[in-house]
Amino acid sequence: MIALTINGKSYDVDVESDTPLLWVLRDTIGLSGTKYGCGIALCGACTVHIDGVATRSCQVPVGTVGSKNVTTIEALAENGKLHPVQKAWLDLGCAAMRLLSERNDHGGRFAAQAETQADRRRH
Ligand code: FES
Repeated sequence: MIALTINGKSYDVDVESDTPLLWVLRDTIGLSGTKYGCGIALCGACTVHIDGVATRSCQVPVGTVGSKNVTTIEALAENGKLHPVQKAWLDLGCAAMRLLSERNDHGGRFAAQAETQADRRRH
């Protein structure tokens, strides 16, 4: 059993000590706000704060966390209102789902639509 403190709450998790923190957060504890992207510390989708230091959780064996405080994106909400970072994640997720849906319906138009939406975001 490994004891963790996530967003100020204590958890005891029954996982191997070399399990990446990302998987423990998502699959064992159910905090799915931390995302899997590349799995090799390049994209930052899995970033959490460990004792205030931004850390790629896909590369952190859970057994090395010890008594440090882990903060995930779920901790950013205040009074039930989404933090701007949480809202941005939701917006990006919705845009990705819409693109995938359009791809299924219209095949070849996918790339052009993706470029158009990316251009809108840049401006
Ligand atoms: S999943 Fe990309 S940096 Fe961790």
